[in-house]
Amino acid sequence: MSEHHVIAMDGPAASGKSSVAGAIADRFGWVFVNTGNMYRAATLAALRAEVDVNDKAAVIAAVDEAEVGVAVVGGRSVVTLKGEAVEDELKDQSINLAVSHVAAVPEVREKLVAMQRDLLQEHSLVMEGRDIGTVVFPETPWKFYIDASEEVRASRRGLQGQADAVSERDRLDSTRKVAPLKAAADAVVIDSTELSLEQVVEEVLAILGARGLTVKE
Ligand code: CDP
Ligand code: CDP
Repeated sequence: MSEHHVIAMDGPAASGKSSVAGAIADRFGWVFVNTGNMYRAATLAALRAEVDVNDKAAVIAAVDEAEVGVAVVGGRSVVTLKGEAVEDELKDQSINLAVSHVAAVPEVREKLVAMQRDLLQEHSLVMEGRDIGTVVFPETPWKFYIDASEEVRASRRGLQGQADAVSERDRLDSTRKVAPLKAAADAVVIDSTELSLEQVVEEVLAILGARGLTVKE
């Protein structure tokens, strides 16, 4: 058993889970892991190789060849392809459109999930994604599912200056066969539609505190 801990933070696109997970990680001094960026880096690999993202075998080969890696820098996960940091390229619209197809390939998920689990050997983690509480760390007692109305999520993404068809990604992510987007049965669901980021962070901290996990001042 690892002596490290993990808080799972799942939810649909632009629900605020990365921002909340980053803030919680800072409060605990734990590492924030953005697993969405790992699937985005795998997608960048497929796009760079110019493969059809619906051609599973070609996607698997492109992802293998690209050597997706993850490092921890300053308390944050940083994704690499053959050692090259690619974070700056991951919010591109071409990736928004393709990522749900790449993320539906079981072999790609297996590879990335193994890397996500490995991180716990060295660090306590706050990990955001779609399947962290259901598949990656189903044993953790600390699971959150951050939700918000589709309208508010689309507007939050718009305010970030991104054209991103969040509802189409959510449809693909929640209907895929392997590790679909859904709240774990034992996750605490927080609807952030009418809450500020700070209010969500305070609610998460209060729930963790009530369950015995508190920030050491
Ligand atoms: O930030 P946003 O919610 O828009 O997306 P993201 O977290 O960067 O994730 C991008 C895509 O990666 C999602 O739409 C999913 O298709 C996939 N993903 C996944 O399948 N499993 C995860 N644990 C994380 C992301
Ligand atoms: O990771 P995910 O795609 O779920 O969302 P995010 O990138 O953390 O958040 C999307 C945007 O919504 C950010 O600009 C947040 O500051 C903002 N946000 C908000 O306005 N209200 C909240 N309750 C949570 C996030």
